[in-house]
Amino acid sequence: MDYIQEIRRLKKEKNAVILAHYYQTGDIQDIADYVGDSLQLSQQAAGTDADMIVFAGVHFMAETAKILSPDKTVVLPDLEAGCSLADSCPAVSFAEFKEQHKGHVVISYINCSAEIKALSDYICTSSNAVKIVDAVPKDTPIIFAPDKNLGKYLIQETGRDMVLWDGSCLVHESFSIDKILDLYKQYPDAHFIAHPEAEEHILKIAEFVGSTTGLLNYVKNAAGKTFIVATESGILHKMQRDNPDKILIAAPMLEDSTCACNECPYMKMNTMEKLYLCMKNESPTIEIEDKLREKALGSINRMLQLS
Ligand code: 13P
Ligand code: SF4
Repeated sequence: MDYIQEIRRLKKEKNAVILAHYYQTGDIQDIADYVGDSLQLSQQAAGTDADMIVFAGVHFMAETAKILSPDKTVVLPDLEAGCSLADSCPAVSFAEFKEQHKGHVVISYINCSAEIKALSDYICTSSNAVKIVDAVPKDTPIIFAPDKNLGKYLIQETGRDMVLWDGSCLVHESFSIDKILDLYKQYPDAHFIAHPEAEEHILKIAEFVGSTTGLLNYVKNAAGKTFIVATESGILHKMQRDNPDKILIAAPMLEDSTCACNECPYMKMNTMEKLYLCMKNESPTIEIEDKLREKALGSINRMLQLS
């Protein structure tokens, strides 16, 4: 089966738009109508005229698209494509946590479930998080959830003392500082850049910290030749295409000494075959109960207005 041809045919037939995150495999990024970071993808989902949104990403992203476009069919190639960070924050425990910190404004990173979004005042992404934190009046205490690493980074960047939920991403917590320093010995002129979901000791040695789009722009505009990149390795597809003459190296991980491929196991559940099948069958779809959707929409809209 020629998946490229079939997916293109189905796109027309079903008036579908394919939105893909930078962590998707190269073949999926290449067939997508739009490839972006979490903020850009949610803006696309809010503005599209398509009847069907095909979300090549993980569950919370497709769920966000459904919250923003309830009348559209939203399909995800693999319903099991979750997120360790979103899973680290169950709604019942988070509601109790909120009870323990009455009077706090809740800012949640978009990598969370619809239930957590409904319990939040604002959503943020890695590209607008500083702006959202800064928008909360200085004398108002803040809970930041679910990513403690992004939370610590924001405390440092904004000077705000926030209460942090203890969640994290399995990919971004796997970078080895020793191996990164070893790589520096091999490439002494390399520039080390990182996503803010990485741990504090990794971010401390980074010359630039930013969202996936931020990292892409940094490499494009920087004068250097060699970059060590601490985020999911799918980003290297576009980064290398944008910068064919630059040397891009995925930051090494803790466990496997030979592995330079920091792949998110959830993002990589999506394949061209599953992409084709979800469009053909219009399944699996994302469905959200109305009341939950309306509550979650408020916190996402407050983010989009500020962005
Ligand atoms: P951004 O693309 O918004 O930087 O998010 C990274 C991420 O981990 C998505 O799951
Ligand atoms: Fe979640 Fe981490 Fe995968 Fe992003 S990279 S989807 S935060 S598990």
